[in-house]
This record gives sequence, structure tokens and C-alpha cells, in this order.
Amino acid sequence: MRVYLCKNYEEMSDLAAKTVLSQVLLKPESVLGLATGSTPVGMYERLCRAAEAGEADFSRITTFNLDEYLGIEPENEQSYHSFMKKNFFTRAKIKAESIHMPSGSSEDALAECTAYDEAIAAAGGIDIQVLGIGQNGHIGFNEPGAELSSGTHIVELTESTIRANARFFENEALVPKKAITMGMRSIMLAKTVMLMASGKEKHEALSGLLSGKITTSNPSTMLNMHPNAIIICDEEAYNG
Ligand code: F6R
Repeated sequence: MRVYLCKNYEEMSDLAAKTVLSQVLLKPESVLGLATGSTPVGMYERLCRAAEAGEADFSRITTFNLDEYLGIEPENEQSYHSFMKKNFFTRAKIKAESIHMPSGSSEDALAECTAYDEAIAAAGGIDIQVLGIGQNGHIGFNEPGAELSSGTHIVELTESTIRANARFFENEALVPKKAITMGMRSIMLAKTVMLMASGKEKHEALSGLLSGKITTSNPSTMLNMHPNAIIICDEEAYNG
């Protein structure tokens, strides 16, 4: 595991964007695993600027997002579909047919899970998986618990995640209680995983990850077994 300690959010975002840009430069048809949330916004901004300046070409990439709320239409402003459109897909001109996101509104959610795993495999797996980290150590929406699921699955969000994500909604009651998320297998099979952590609230979860110990009560710790994991964090997340 390679750990990069950055001064602040901006430096973390710079390094994360450079890592993704190098991946796409070396392999223009890369399969990118993508995350939503506050953490990667700065990275997406830099990727969009690079695309707009003609310094990066995302025309041949394929993308797979980690997760989506369940029971939410893609057009809903709070959906991760909308987030990705606004923060990356539109400005970076990612082709609609190259974008994959789990559907939160599918009538058959279980079939959707199987189809999602099959689509990732058919694309040849993920080259680089971008990850944030939950305050409770979740990656994607793989929440802490006695067991972790390997495949894409439906998950009940924990109180802590609902509380943390309430900031994106008018009030906490409106945060969906369930989500559909990639499981640990797709994440662990990614050729490279790049986890970003910023801010004091992430200190405890990040410390668990950096301790080198592995526990399902902090799903991010599984990355200790990944052969090519990059952790990019800022001082607040690292020092608390
Ligand atoms: C989002 C995702 C989540 C977030 C995590 C941190 O697609 O998979 O694991 O990365 O909840 O969220 P932020 O960045 O908002 O603190």
C-alpha cells in the first residue's frame, strides 16, 4: 500500500487527478471505477478542466460507478446519476454508452446486481477504482458488519451513513435508507485502487485502514490485502 500525505484537500485532489490522468494517458481505453460524495469533487473538477483544455482525452474510457441510492430515479437531483453528470460526465464528454451506474429504480434489483457484475467482467474488470471512505470505514456502500458481500448487492444504510449524507438532502428523513453497491470483489479485483480521505471526520476510519489490521467492522481495511492500493489523504484526515 502506498500512502501519500497531502497538506490539504486541494493537494489531495491534484494528486488524485494526476493519478487518473496518467492511467488514461497510458491506456486510453481504461475502465474507471468511480465514486461520488464530497471527497472526489475537486478531483473531478481537475479532470474536467484537463478535458476542456484538450489535455486529456476521455473518449475511449468506460466507467462503472460504485453505487446508487435505491428507490430514486436517475433524474432526481439527489441521485448519484445526477451527481456524476454534473461533476464529470457532461464536461468531460463521456459517451453515454460508456457509462455504467447501478440503477436505483430497477424493478428487479437482484437481476440488476447480477447484470452489473457481469458488465464489469465483460469490460475486462476495472483498471483503477476511485474510492472515498465513510466515517465508519465503508467503501462504496459496503457498510461495517459481521459479514461483507462480495458481489453487487442491496444494502441497508447505517444510521451513521444516513446522518453523514443528510447534508445533501433537505432533511435527514429524506435520505434513502437503502442503496445498491458494488461488493468487495469488484473493488478488490480492480488493478489499482485509489482511496482519498480528507478532513478530521475521516481520521478514525483512516487510522483503522493504516493500522494494517483487517476487520469487517471497517471495510476499508480489506485494502490492506490489495496488491496495488494507493491512499491519498490530507493532514486533517491523517492526524485527526
Ligand atoms: C460514494 C461512496 C461512498 C463515499 C463515502 C464518503 O459513491 O461510495 O463510499 O465515498 O461515503 O463520502 P464523502 O466523500 O461525501 O465524505
